[in-house]
Amino acid sequence: MTDTKLRTSRMHLLFVLPLVLEVQSISTSHNITYDCTCYEELKIANCTSRNFTHLPAALPPFTEQLDLSLNHLSAIRPRAFHTTRRLRILLLNDNVIAVLADGAFSLLEGLLRLDLSRNRISFLSEGFSQGLGSLRDLSLAENRLTNLDSSFFVHFDALQRLNLRHNAIETIKMRTFVSMSTLRQLQLNSNNLTVLKNGIFSMLRNLEVLYLHHNQIHYLDVGVLSPLTSLALLDLTNNNLSTIQFKTFLSLNTYSTHIMLQGNPWNCDCDLQRVFRKLCNVKRLFLDDYDNLTCVNLDESHRNYTMKEEFCVAEMVTVLVITITVVITVVAAIVMAEKKRKKKNKEKHWTEVGELSCASQD
Ligand SMILES: *[C@@H]1O[C@H](CO)[C@@H](O)[C@H](O)[C@H]1NC(C)=O
Ligand SMILES: *[C@@H]1O[C@H](CO)[C@@H](O)[C@H](O)[C@H]1NC(C)=O
Ligand SMILES: *[C@@H]1O[C@H](CO)[C@@H](O)[C@H](O)[C@H]1NC(C)=O
Ligand SMILES: *[C@@H]1O[C@H](CO)[C@@H](O)[C@H](O)[C@H]1NC(C)=O
Ligand SMILES: *[C@@H]1O[C@H](CO)[C@@H](O)[C@H](O)[C@H]1NC(C)=O
Ligand SMILES: *[C@@H]1O[C@H](CO)[C@@H](O)[C@H](O)[C@H]1NC(C)=O
Ligand SMILES: *[C@@H]1O[C@H](CO)[C@@H](O)[C@H](O)[C@H]1NC(C)=O
Repeated sequence: MTDTKLRTSRMHLLFVLPLVLEVQSISTSHNITYDCTCYEELKIANCTSRNFTHLPAALPPFTEQLDLSLNHLSAIRPRAFHTTRRLRILLLNDNVIAVLADGAFSLLEGLLRLDLSRNRISFLSEGFSQGLGSLRDLSLAENRLTNLDSSFFVHFDALQRLNLRHNAIETIKMRTFVSMSTLRQLQLNSNNLTVLKNGIFSMLRNLEVLYLHHNQIHYLDVGVLSPLTSLALLDLTNNNLSTIQFKTFLSLNTYSTHIMLQGNPWNCDCDLQRVFRKLCNVKRLFLDDYDNLTCVNLDESHRNYTMKEEFCVAEMVTVLVITITVVITVVAAIVMAEKKRKKKNKEKHWTEVGELSCASQD
């Protein structure tokens, strides 16, 4: 029994050995057998700039890094990478990909980095993230996404960096990022966001860097930043903010957060200046570009104010004048009332005396 087992395993070995040798001999003549430049020792297959319109049919199965950038790929079929399941890095940037089939990457369970930047992706199906539970780094920069749905990113359990820069994103649905409690960096800059609604960043408790610059954000819900308990950098420069609420930033319950706010059309009234002065006094918040915040308001010489400038002096003087006037009025009124009372008392005394005298006279 054991003997036959041993013999069959030996036979397997004998059968497998030449196969391995064959594969190796093929792959030594790699650049002829495969359409790409393959470095066997480095486990790299480099297929960049080959004018491919379809995925190459044959790729070494040992490949861990596959570079398909700068080709003409337009679609990725389901299970497209079934011959190269050991991939750890997959570069698909600079193609014309518009269609990602459900489960396009579903067999790549060890994939760490996926670059899909500079393609024509406008939609992601629920199966997009299927099987990508190990992915750490995803770029969808410079595509055509207009909204982010809660079904786009459901299976990303290990993602640390997500780049959505330079799409045309207008709306982010609630729960879009809920699978991403491991995310550390989120790039949403250069999109078309106008408002940030409560709940869109829930579960992002490990997020350290949030890039939101170059959008058209004019309003943040007061609680939208409160789930971001690890946030170290928030870039809101070059948006459409004219005012902010103190509580919006105070709700950032972090150890220390740097906030960038220049390039917004600040409407610097005294209320907003007060908000900024209070923010500057919050020890854990650092307004790095506070000195550079310019206002849309103009001063007497038609020069723009900066947030730091003391332009509430006139208001303060007015307030002071009013206060002093009120105090004087009140004091005067009290004094007058007191005088009146004393006078009345005196008169009363007299009448009382008079009455008495009248009584005694009677
Ligand atoms: C194949 O690769 C070798 C070096 O790895 C190179 O010298 C040779 O020119 C390549 N052949 C072709 C046809 O590209
Ligand atoms: C592929 O080759 C190009 C140059 O031909 C190089 O710039 C690129 O870094 C290579 N890709 C990988 C993954 O090594
Ligand atoms: C790709 O196509 C361009 C333009 O047609 C051509 O100039 C270039 O040589 C092609 N590259 C390859 C690797 O075939
Ligand atoms: C999105 O914003 C860009 C500038 O960042 C602008 O050119 C484009 O017209 C905007 N698109 C829409 C649909 O608002
Ligand atoms: C900026 O926000 C205001 C509302 O506060 C809006 O009326 C205006 O159109 C916005 N401008 C841009 C360029 O988005
Ligand atoms: C403020 O603006 C000046 C001049 O434009 C620039 O040199 C400086 O780096 C800016 N500071 C910050 C914190 O962005
Ligand atoms: C100065 O204020 C005007 C509006 O009165 C605005 O259009 C302009 O952008 C402001 N300049 C700066 C540098 O903020």
